[in-house]
Order: sequence, then structure tokens, then C-alpha cells
Amino acid sequence: MKKYIFTSLLFVLIFTSCNKSNISSTEERLDQRVDSVIKLMTLEEKIGQMVLYTSDWDVTGPTLKSGYLDDIRSGNCGNIFNAHTAKYTRKLQKIAVEESRLGIPLLFGYDVIHGHKTIFPISLGESASWDMVAIEKSARVSAIEAAASGINWTFAPMCDISVEPRWGRVSEGAGEDPYLGSLIAVARVHGFQGNDLSDSLSILACVKHFAAYGAPLAGRDYNTVDMSKRVFLDTYLPPYKAAIDAGAMSVMSSFNELDGIPASGSKYLLTDLLRTELGFKGFVVTDYTSINEMVNHGIVANEVDAGLLAIKAGVDMDMQGEVYFKYLKNQVNEGLLDVKLIDESVRRILKVKFMLDLFDDPYKYCNEEREKRLVYAPEHLEAALDVAKKSMVLLKNENNVLPLQKGEKIVVIGELAASTRDLLGSWKAAGDWDFMKSTIDEIKLYNGESNVIYTEGCKKMGEDRSGFPAAIALARRADKIVMVIGEDWEWSGEAASRTSIKIPGVQTELLEKLKTLNKPVIVVLMNGRPLDLSKESTLADAILEAWYPGTMGGKAITQVLFGDYNPSGKLTMTFPRTLGQVPIFYYEKNTGRPLYLENPKYKSRYIDCPNDPLYPFGFGLSYSTFVYSDIKLSTSELTENGNLEASVNVTNTGGVDGEEVVQCYIRDLVGSVTRPVKELKGFEKIYLKAGESKVITFKITPDMLAFHRLDMTYGTEPGDFKLFIGGNSRDVKETNFALSVQ
Ligand code: NOJ
Repeated sequence: MKKYIFTSLLFVLIFTSCNKSNISSTEERLDQRVDSVIKLMTLEEKIGQMVLYTSDWDVTGPTLKSGYLDDIRSGNCGNIFNAHTAKYTRKLQKIAVEESRLGIPLLFGYDVIHGHKTIFPISLGESASWDMVAIEKSARVSAIEAAASGINWTFAPMCDISVEPRWGRVSEGAGEDPYLGSLIAVARVHGFQGNDLSDSLSILACVKHFAAYGAPLAGRDYNTVDMSKRVFLDTYLPPYKAAIDAGAMSVMSSFNELDGIPASGSKYLLTDLLRTELGFKGFVVTDYTSINEMVNHGIVANEVDAGLLAIKAGVDMDMQGEVYFKYLKNQVNEGLLDVKLIDESVRRILKVKFMLDLFDDPYKYCNEEREKRLVYAPEHLEAALDVAKKSMVLLKNENNVLPLQKGEKIVVIGELAASTRDLLGSWKAAGDWDFMKSTIDEIKLYNGESNVIYTEGCKKMGEDRSGFPAAIALARRADKIVMVIGEDWEWSGEAASRTSIKIPGVQTELLEKLKTLNKPVIVVLMNGRPLDLSKESTLADAILEAWYPGTMGGKAITQVLFGDYNPSGKLTMTFPRTLGQVPIFYYEKNTGRPLYLENPKYKSRYIDCPNDPLYPFGFGLSYSTFVYSDIKLSTSELTENGNLEASVNVTNTGGVDGEEVVQCYIRDLVGSVTRPVKELKGFEKIYLKAGESKVITFKITPDMLAFHRLDMTYGTEPGDFKLFIGGNSRDVKETNFALSVQ
């Protein structure tokens, strides 16, 4: 009974404070409501709001704290992750709202990375669509389904730039480019949060992993990150910044150290940069036990000090570490910690809970009828199919062996062709795979059972060659061979770093044998990172990079293979020839001894391999062909307040309608610090009918040429530039312009 009195008191206070007549703005009203709650809270309850525990519904890290129901009831835990379904979250929310002293509603977080139930392609795959509308739609559908299943907070978007294919988590990001990565970060935040956080179909976004988690030394997950401040600011920071500017109200501090300081203890990152410079107004949550891990990092001697370091750095919420819960109270009582810091953190967290409208309607996400209606809704599956097709990248198509013709006799080989689980990739959230159709099911449906033979041939891993003879015998009877190969889904994502980026097991060996049959061989790839395809690219006549394409992946692969959809995806990470070239990315520097200089020996090059990658950033073929005219400039001199228009005429010279991503790059030739040989500054995805031409124009303004100069100020420098336009970062037309004095 007592609890209900407190709960009602809380709501009365909140209600009356918001009705005072002199409230001038929504922001002030929000602050007043937050303050009215804080006034009622004990120190323990405040700390409870700064605690996030996983439920035992799903596990995404190494430890599991038991007894979280009691913690919710006692006010010692204000936030839960890895709990979902409208029914279960309602049960937990009911404990918080009706059984805890103050009745403060819970946040429910979950890794809704590329879908909740309806799973879209992995994020790296989606990024290859270069289609911001499609990417936003994917995040929106994910939000709608997650919100219907009780979730109000996703741990996404992941905004980590990476040039490290050994790192399994490149699958979760948007690739290597800061400009494209920033646009994608914005699209995802808009998709998750919608126009209004208080809408019951919107969920809170979380920008992660702040910061520079995508650059672990040697590609080993959780490893040290070490880079110059200039590289950090110019290359790694932009997508996080863009997501914050787009309104994301939570940020996750990363596991890694940067310049010797673990992110969860870095005042520079979490306060000076994030709040003071970037103006972030939401709350910071750590990654899983990353406060505790600062002891292992060697920045503090024990967890007691770790907690102090974290809160002083700017961490508001402790994910799963129990450090805040165990130590903050004593630290306040002993005068080691000013309670004002705790109040600040609680204020930020409660503010977001108000913005989500949880105080007024704590069960808004817990409606079972709505859940039934929205999860796997036909329009969501349709959207997943659309994005999956758009994300696929055609890497090779010798003699136009693709598209397949309906009715052709084909043999399909490979364990991955029959797998449904692998189609979902890592972070499949609550996605189910038992009802899904595999790639081979879909190919049979499309092409007719009698025209398709399937045999496994070999597993995706291991040395077993016993299926080779059957595969070869069946392949002899077919017109074309389709082999689905790649990596197990668990080989991508968190804690999935590799020292080799070759196709595992004996898959390539079987491909080699099939090649000797002198029949067209088509390889479909399923994987979550750039792979070394140097061998496969000589064996296969066609290669379709399908990534892990999601719930509708089998159908999407089928439609692309048979030409119902003309592939339009372009790589967002460079595919090297060999791991020895890594890190390899298109925005490298020229060096003092570039390849084009005369003397063949003393140049920046390898003696056993070319410098250039197998497939460059921005690369992807189509069943159409596109021809670019020379570039026309509106002026060759860009002035301080002016702009320059660069145009090309693009023609579809192929026999079918298709889409092309027209890309615009620049190079600043001389700077107070050296500049990359190319930087993406714009792109447009266009649709051209067979034979059709279109003029595409890019507008360049001086702010697009800014960077961190010698003195670390951000701005431009006058001088000469190159401008490139083309269908990928390698094959471009080029021209020159100058930026006049600023
Ligand atoms: C650890 C991962 O690094 C992070 O991305 C994820 O959001 C959390 N675990 C929660 O599952």
C-alpha cells in the first residue's frame, strides 16, 4: 500500500510541476519534471537509475548477474537489457512501476542492429546499397518491431569506421568511409528514433562504440587503439558526430583505450569532446562491464577506483558491471565523490525516460495484440527483401554468365545454400530461422524442382572431402554450377577476429575441382567482412557478394541470380588481394615514393604483390554497363562563399535497365598537413533505362574541403585540387580546380 502512495505522489508532483504557468519551453518543462522526481529520490535510488543489468532472456556478454527482479523491486536497478516480448517486459515494468518505492519506469535495451524479428542484411551489407532511404526504412521497421516487443532502446547505430577485415565487427558497421558512414549513421538514428521519441513506435538510439573501437591493433577484438588525434578527428569521429547531431540521445563508451586511456575512463572523450564540443545532451552508458575492465587495462588498481574514474569521466550508466551499485554510495558518504555528479547523471537518464513518455505511459511498449500484428508484418518482410537485393554486390560476371535463365539446369552446391541460420548473420536479435526458406528452397521454387539439383559438397568449415565425388558427378549433368560459400555466421560480429581472411575449410578446393568441368561456375558469397578472394576470383566466372542478407535473403539471392533484380550494390570496404596488404583503404596518403615515380625499386610497394586491391571501395558491377563522359566544371575557381558544379553524363549502354552509384571524390594536392589521395564528397544512386543517359551534377562548396590543419583548427586551405567522378574509387574521370584565398 505504501508503495502505491509513493507512486501516486510521484505522479502528482510530476503533473503539478508541468502545469505551472510560467513554464516557457518544453526543455524547461522537461527539466522541472526531472527535478521533481530527483527531489524524491534517496541516494540508493539515484544510483539504481545508473545501473543496467541483463535479464537471463538472452546473454550478450561474459557474466550474468542473478536476482535482477529483486534489484528492480528495491530500486537498485533502473534499466534492463536483453529482455523482450510485450509479455515479459510488461512483467518487469510492472515490478518497477507498481512494486518499487518511486515507480520509476525501466528502460529496456537490446541489440537491435539490423532488425528485431524481421532481419535485414548485416549493416555492412546494407551500407553497400548506398541507399539512405532503404537504410532508414530498415531501421524504422526494426524500431517498429522492437517497440512492439517491449523494447524502448536499441544499442545501435554502430558508427565505428574500420579498415580492418580481420576484425569480426566490421560486419556491424558501415565500412571504411567517414562521409558515407556519417550519412548512414544519420539515416539509422532517424529510422530508430522517428520524428518524435515519445511516439510508441520510436525507440532510443545509442551511438556506439565511442570511440574509435573499429581500429584495434592487428584486428583483434578489444585490443588497444592507437592513432593520431588528427586521424581520429578527421576520419573516425565524423559518423559518431553525425549521429549525435541527428538527435541520438544515448552514447555507449567503448571497450578500447585511446591514447592510453580506456574510453570509459576518458574525460577527454566523454566530457570535453562529447558534451562540451559536440553538445551531446543525452546519457552515456558503458559497454558490457567496461568499467570493471579498466582494472585489466591497468589504469586503476581496483574496481572501487574504476567506478570513480568512470563517473568523473562522464559515464552515466554502468552496463552489467555492478561497480556503480557496489561503490558509489560509499564514495559519496566518504566525501570522495560529489553527489552533484550523481544528480547530473540521473538527470540525464530520467530526462530520456520522460522524452520516451515512459512516466505517463510505462506500458506503451507492452501490448501483446500490437506485437502480434506488427512482428513479421508482410510489409516488413517486403522491405527486408528490398534492402537485401539492394545490398548485394556483383564482383565479377565474365561472359555475362549471370543472370541465370529460368529453366536452366543448375546444380547448387555448398552447406551455406541450405542454411537458414547463416542467412541472419550475427546480432540476429529476436529473429527466428526455423520458418525461413533457405537459398536452395527459394531457387527450387523459382526455377522448378526438376531444374535444380542440390548437394552439399562440403561443409563451410573443416576438412571433410567425402562429398566431393557426388558434387562433381552431379555438376557434370548441369548447365551451370552455383556454389554458395563463405563463413559461418559466428565468424563475424563480436569476439570473431580472424588471422586469415580466406574462405575457410575445403570450400575453395571443391570450387577448384568444379572449375575443371569447364562449365560456368557462379559463386555466391555469404560473409561479414572483406575476404581474400584472389583464388576464387580466378576460378569463378561470376561472384555475387550476398553478405548475410537476412530473413528474406534466400529469395533476394534468387531474384538477383535470375535477373529479376539487377544488382546495384557497391563495396563500402576495400577487398584486398591478400591479408598482407591490410590495412588497405582508398583514402591512403601519397607517400614520398609513390608507385608512379620512375625508379622501380625504391618505391612504396610490395615486391610480391601489387599495391592495389582486388576490388576497390565503391566497386560493384551490374547486368547493365555504364559509360561516363568527361567532367564539366561550372568554374575552375572556387571562391570563399561560392560553389562549383561538376557534371558528368552517364549512359546505360547495356541491354537492361539498371542502377548506378555515381561517386564524386576530391584530392587536396598541397596542405599544411598531407591529405589523402581521394576523399568521397558526394554520390548519387541513379536509375537508367537501357540506352538512357542522365547528367549528374555535384555541388562542391568550400566547407566540404575542410580538415584539421597543422594547428588543429578545422577549416580549408587555398590551393589546387583534383576532382574525380566515376562508378568506383578507382575507375574515374578527373579534372582540376582551385580554391582561392580564404
Ligand atoms: C557488447 C558489445 O560490444 C555491444 O555492442 C553490445 O551492445 C553490448 N555487448 C550489449 O549486448
